[in-house]
Amino acid sequence: MSGHSNYEFKNPLVNWVDSRLPIVSLIKGQAMDFPTPKNLNYWWTFGGILAIMLVLQLITGIVLVMHYTPTADLAFDSVEHIMRDVNYGWLLRYMHANGASMFFIAVYIHIFRGMYYGSYKEPREVLWMLGVFIFIAMMATAFMGYVLPWGQMSFWGAKVITNLFSAIPFVGDSIVTWLWGGFNVGDPTLNRFFSLHYLLPFVLAALVFLHIWALHVPGNNNPTGVEVKSEADTLPFHPYYTMKDLFAIVVFLMFMAAFVFFAPNFMGHADNYIEANPLSTPPHIVPEWYFLPFYAILRSIPDKLLGVIAMFSSLLILLALPWLDSSRVRSGKYRPIFKQLFWIFVFNCLVLGVVGGQPPEGIWVTIGRISTAYYFLHFIILLPLIGLLESPKPLPASISEDVLAKSGAKSS
Ligand code: HEM
Repeated sequence: MSGHSNYEFKNPLVNWVDSRLPIVSLIKGQAMDFPTPKNLNYWWTFGGILAIMLVLQLITGIVLVMHYTPTADLAFDSVEHIMRDVNYGWLLRYMHANGASMFFIAVYIHIFRGMYYGSYKEPREVLWMLGVFIFIAMMATAFMGYVLPWGQMSFWGAKVITNLFSAIPFVGDSIVTWLWGGFNVGDPTLNRFFSLHYLLPFVLAALVFLHIWALHVPGNNNPTGVEVKSEADTLPFHPYYTMKDLFAIVVFLMFMAAFVFFAPNFMGHADNYIEANPLSTPPHIVPEWYFLPFYAILRSIPDKLLGVIAMFSSLLILLALPWLDSSRVRSGKYRPIFKQLFWIFVFNCLVLGVVGGQPPEGIWVTIGRISTAYYFLHFIILLPLIGLLESPKPLPASISEDVLAKSGAKSS
């Protein structure tokens, strides 16, 4: 990445700059000529979609801040002012709020793609772990962003989640008071959440930079999980994948536009259009949909501290995934038992999501406990075990052999 450039450009000015700061050759090498497996399917476009979503959230967020006031008495009204008075303010706000949901849809697809095709396996462990840190930073950013409109769900959601820290023995209550900046969620809390909500996306951008750096060392995995063996297995990133990514980005933005223009509050909660009131607890406090599986894990354990530990463990266990999966075969395509367990795992995550949205009573408690147990069982018992027990299907000798076999041609 650093040092001298190997490229010779026709334009003398470009050459002059590049020999002093090899930025043009960096872009050419890493974003244009970069050898990319030729068999990537559309699940591989979600990294690019995520990058665009991050930029969109940054731009809409920065403009929203020009009209938003982060104080407890003015925040709610300033959001109404954005919706009613600011030119296209409604569009900015709906893009930002729905953008957060779209960001999570894309990241969940991106994570499950990585899990199915074994992209976390050697030599991509650090790339995967950076992804997990990105995911955690995304969750923190979204949580703090949801507090800013200062509606009932903002207030009570913040109260429930910050209160979790009170479960820490001895110092828990002092930590919560410290987090709040007072004896309840209030003006200082809103202020610091605003500050951090503005800061974290830039931390995210830095993590994404490292993520892509770590990707460009081994290069992409691919649906076969077989590493690139020769130039015949690859295509230059531009124009093949720039165009494929662009097409997917346009389709994804159309999907987002359907929500922004036709159902902008579909993924929100009606109570957040009522101003925060510390004296009136809503009957049913629910987080945004993308937190529901983790919320279900939290509530499935009767003890508060253990619930908090289970919730954080359900995220942190992802860091250990590269070492929990014992199979030598990378892609789930060639692993008959793993493939079925993968889909059961996805289904179980959806069940956890449904449970997280229900009141913690009756049958939901039982289902929540079983699904939580299964979540951990998948990682701790099933993955290490089936890697040793199952017999994988034969792998193609190379990516190009697989591609040619599919098109009916001989591979030699
Ligand atoms: C802001 C969020 C993120 C952005 C912008 C991002 C960006 C990207 C990009 C551009 C790629 C290459 C294209 C592709 O494979 O789709 C990629 C690959 C990858 N990402 Fe992410 N990513 C994000 C979050 C995550 C998360 C949360 C994880 C996992 C927990 C993750 C794990 C991976 C892995 C394992 C690969 C390699 C895939 C392969 O080559 O098979 N990423 N990411």
